[in-house]
Amino acid sequence: SKDERSLRIARLDWQELQEEVRGCSACGLCQQRQQAVFGVGNKRPRIAIVGEAPGAEEDRLGEPFVGAAGQLLDNMLRAIGHSRGDQVYIANVLKCRPPGNRNPAPEEVARCTPFLDRQLALLQPQVIFAVGRFAISHLLRTDAPVSALRGRVHQWQGIPLVVSYHPAYLLRNLPDKSKAWSDLLLLQDTLQQQLAK
Ligand code: URA
Repeated sequence: SKDERSLRIARLDWQELQEEVRGCSACGLCQQRQQAVFGVGNKRPRIAIVGEAPGAEEDRLGEPFVGAAGQLLDNMLRAIGHSRGDQVYIANVLKCRPPGNRNPAPEEVARCTPFLDRQLALLQPQVIFAVGRFAISHLLRTDAPVSALRGRVHQWQGIPLVVSYHPAYLLRNLPDKSKAWSDLLLLQDTLQQQLAK
């Protein structure tokens, strides 16, 4: 049937994308990584979360958001009734760890983001949750700060997108946690509206 055919094609697309990421040497980050960190979760997700880049733990374990920031992210998801491996997919702007967790360089973002764009196009999530300025500036093509973009729903290729602070930032700036909480409510509200369509 048509559905089976499109499922088969999607499976091949995922396989090819994953192999390309695993073997990628398009920028210098490939020299110091233990492994590329592709992404994890449901491939027909309600929510696709986009972070910045793997840190030390992620580089070691091969899964995004498994360190301290990841624990906070898990708690944030749980607060609105979701969890990793449920109806969520988690990916990063960069697939390889920048040494010492420095910021991604523009060249690295330019080389790597075609992977993220293909991932999101395959996922077709109900809503995208972009955390931190690197995810936001790539997906929304803006230099505006997170604070100026919060509180309303944006779009990425026709998919609703909600922004918030990066969990690693929140760990250092506890007062902004209440803002992240209202971002989560907007995320959940946006998702409910999508599901009701
Ligand atoms: N921070 C991120 O942005 N991504 C991770 O995977 C881990 C920490």
